[in-house]
Amino acid sequence: MQEAIERAVAHYRELLMSQVERAQHMNDQAAPEGKQKLVIGVVGGDGIGPIITLQAQRALEALLKEEIQAGKIEIRSIDGLTIENRLAVGKAVPDDVLAEIKQCDVLLKGPTTTPSGGTMESANVALRRELDLFANVRPVSVPEEGIDWTFFRENTEGEYTLGSKGIEIPGLLTMDFKVTTIAGTRRIARAAYEFARKNGKTHVAIVTKSNIMKKTDGMFSEICRQVAADYPEIQTDEYFIDIMSANLLKPAMRPQLQVFVLPNLYGDIITDEAAQLQGGVGTAGSANTGDRYAMFEAIHGSAPRMIARGMGDYANPESIIRAAVMLLQHIGMPDKAERLAKAIDAAAASCPIGVEQGNTCADFGDAVLKAL
Ligand code: IPM
Ligand code: MG
Repeated sequence: MQEAIERAVAHYRELLMSQVERAQHMNDQAAPEGKQKLVIGVVGGDGIGPIITLQAQRALEALLKEEIQAGKIEIRSIDGLTIENRLAVGKAVPDDVLAEIKQCDVLLKGPTTTPSGGTMESANVALRRELDLFANVRPVSVPEEGIDWTFFRENTEGEYTLGSKGIEIPGLLTMDFKVTTIAGTRRIARAAYEFARKNGKTHVAIVTKSNIMKKTDGMFSEICRQVAADYPEIQTDEYFIDIMSANLLKPAMRPQLQVFVLPNLYGDIITDEAAQLQGGVGTAGSANTGDRYAMFEAIHGSAPRMIARGMGDYANPESIIRAAVMLLQHIGMPDKAERLAKAIDAAAASCPIGVEQGNTCADFGDAVLKAL
C-alpha cells in the first residue's frame, strides 16, 4: 500500500508540473500569415463516420467548385483515424495522421470511437488538445419555441485534460482531476462575450457548480465575471449546472437564454440535452476553434451498434452537414453557409432517412445536392 501511495504521489507531481507548463505556454499557437491556399481536411473517422462524412464532402465540393478550380481551396481526404489503427499503434491519434492533419487549416471530422475505461484517450480530446481548439461552439435553434442558443463550452481543460491520467490505489480507490487555468478560462469567456457583442445578443449565462467545485469552478466563474465587466451592454447571470439543466426544459425560460459559457464536462452534457430539444443529437453541428486551427464535427458518436446491425447506410448525415455549414461560416462564406443550411432543411423535409421511408444516407446527400 505504501508503495502504491508513493507511486501515486510521484504521478501527481508529474501531472501538476505538466499543467503548470501548459498554463504558462497557453496561446502560443498563432495563425500563419499570408497563406495562399486554404486546405480543408476531411477526416472520416470510424463507424458511420466515413459514410456520413462523404455526404458532407460532396456538398462542400459542389459549393466550393470555383474556389477549388482556381486553386484557392483544396479539399484533402485524410484516412487512418480509425479505432483499428489507433489501437494498433496505441495512440489516440497516430503520429502520421496528426502530421497530415496539421498541414490543413480547417477540418471536417467524422465521429471516432472512444473506448470507455482503459488508458486510450479519445481521439477528439487528443485533437482538441494538439490543435489547441479551446472553444467548442454549439448552436441550438428551435424558432417556434423561442430557442436560439449558442453554447461556448471550454474545450481543452476541466475534467478532460487529465481524464485518462487519474490515480489508483488498487483495491481501494481511484481519483481523477479537474484542471482550470486563468488563461484558459479567460479565452473561452472572451470568445463567448465577443460572439454576444458581434451578434447583438444581450444575455450571457455563466454556468458552473461553484458551490461544490470551489477551486476550479469558483475561479471559472470569477474570471468570466472579470471578462463580463468589459461588456457592460450585456447582462450576465450565473446559474448552477443542475438548475440550468432544468431551465432548458422550462418554456418560459427558453427565450430568455441566449449565450452560455461553461466548463468542459457540463458543456458536453448540456449540449446533448439542448440538441435533443432541436430534434436529437443527429441534428446538431459543433465547431471546435482555436487561434490556428478549427475543426467541425457532428455532436454524436460513431454508432458502432448501427454498423454491427448492418445499418450503416441508413446513418443520418444531417449533423455532419450542419457542421459543414459552420465550417463555411468560419472561412468567411456566410452566403454559401446559408445556401447549404436551406438545402439541409429541404432534404430533411423531402428525404426522411430509414428503411421504412426507403431513403439512405446517400439519398439524403443527393437531396442536399439537388436543393443546392
Ligand atoms: C462531444 C463528445 C466527445 C466529448 C466524446 C466523443 C469524447 O461527446 O463532442 O460532445 O465528450 O467531448
Ligand atoms: Mg458529448
